[in-house]
Order: sequence, then C-alpha cells, then structure tokens
Amino acid sequence: MKKNISPDLVTIHHPRSPIAEAYRILRTNLEFSSLDRPLRLLLVTSPGAEEGKSTVLANLGVVIAQAGKKVILADCDLRRPSLHELFGLPGNMGLTNMIVDEEALKKPPLLETGVENLWLLPSGPLPPNPAEVLASRRMGEVLKRLSSEADMVLLDAPPVVSVTDALILASKSDGVILVIRAGRTRKEMALRAKELLEKVNARILGSVLTDAQLDMRLQRYYGS
Ligand SMILES: Nc1ncnc2c1ncn2[C@@H]1O[C@H](COP(=O)(O)OP(=O)(O)O)[C@@H](O)[C@H]1O
Ligand SMILES: [Mg+2]
Repeated sequence: MKKNISPDLVTIHHPRSPIAEAYRILRTNLEFSSLDRPLRLLLVTSPGAEEGKSTVLANLGVVIAQAGKKVILADCDLRRPSLHELFGLPGNMGLTNMIVDEEALKKPPLLETGVENLWLLPSGPLPPNPAEVLASRRMGEVLKRLSSEADMVLLDAPPVVSVTDALILASKSDGVILVIRAGRTRKEMALRAKELLEKVNARILGSVLTDAQLDMRLQRYYGS
C-alpha cells in the first residue's frame, strides 16, 4: 500500500479492480458527453454531506491523468476541505492563497500527488466568507489560470442543498457531476439538488451512484 495515500483511492492502490474499471467507464462517458463542447472545468458535488464527492472526484482525476491528460484537483470546499488528506499532503497553501496573493496567482501552489500528470491544489487557509470568495471576480481569474495549466480541472465543493457554494461554482463550470449515495441520499434531496442546479443553468452531465452493491458477475470476470 502506497505510503500516506488513503485506501479510498482505489484507482491508485488497485488499478485492475472492478471499481477502478467503473471509474474508467465514467471517464469514457465524460469524453462522449463533451465531444462538441469542451469540458475543462468539471464540478463534482452532491445533495448532502458525506456522500462520496471528494472520493469520486479524486479517483476520477487519477484515471483521467492515467490516460495522459494533465489534471488539477482543486479543493473548492472552503468549509470542510479533504482532498489533501486523501493524498496525505498538507492543506495550508492553495486556492485561497491564489485569491489574495498576486504571486500565488501567477505561480499556483500546486502539489505533486505521486500520480503522473495529476496535481493537487489544496484549499489553503479557510476564509470566514466562503460563498463570497467563490463568487468573487478574482475566483474567476483563479479558475482561468488553473485551466491554462491543465487539460482538465476538477472542482471539489460542499453539498448543493445546504449552502450556495456549489451553485456558484456550477455556474462557472463547463459541467457538473452529481454524486448520489445508495441508501443515504434521499430522493427529495436529489431532486432538490437537480432543481437548484438547473436554476443556475448548470450543465448536469450525469450522476454517479456510490456505495452501490457490486455486481458479483463482474467480480468473477476480473478474477479477484
Ligand atoms: N463508494 C463508497 N463506499 C463506501 N464508503 C465511501 C464511498 N465513498 C466514500 N466513502 C466514505 O464516506 C466518507 C465520506 O466520503 P467523502 O468522499 O469525503 O464524501 P463527501 O466529499 O461527499 O463529504 C468517507 O469516510 C469515505 O471513506
Ligand atoms: Mg468532500
């Protein structure tokens, strides 16, 4: 097991597993859904807390990077940032530094993840007013700067239903993936999230079901 890297990063620890294969299918589906419209800024969010947003985003980033694209994972969850923990990296320098510091905007404080082509931009110090920071013009500049550094930027965000942060980011993104957790996300919450995203004209590309029962036939096919 790779040192410091969370076991939740299945695509790193078990690249031949059915779970990693599911992430590669997701990668392919995203490619098909963005044939005529570029997908450089992709937001991953979910209706509520602890539904697997950060886990899905990080694993998706890994398989896209493994396909040879340069990917930045940007932790825009300025309330409960967690991407740095998944990779066992420090989270104290990152996005909010780029917001307030001209030097950091010019030279983004990206961290190597140990995966080729994959960089992490942690949240940086947490501001008292996350929604305002994300809605600022400066945040637009930060996203532009990050886009110029990579083929794809994946944005991690708080849940859609409780705070406005994800909706602000959705309106600045080229597409949104909505994570739904089996046995946890309530149907009304999922519908509410979809409704809120549609109101800000977000381009919902699809949803990802997490914590679902693994199909045993698939398990046998891959022989593990
Ligand atoms: N597919 C999954 N199956 C089971 N547990 C999961 C899955 N994805 C994430 N988890 C667990 O759920 C918790 C929340 O995951 P996380 O990705 O941080 O959610 P969020 O970003 O939505 O808050 C973590 O402890 C993680 O280990
Ligand atoms: Mg999260």
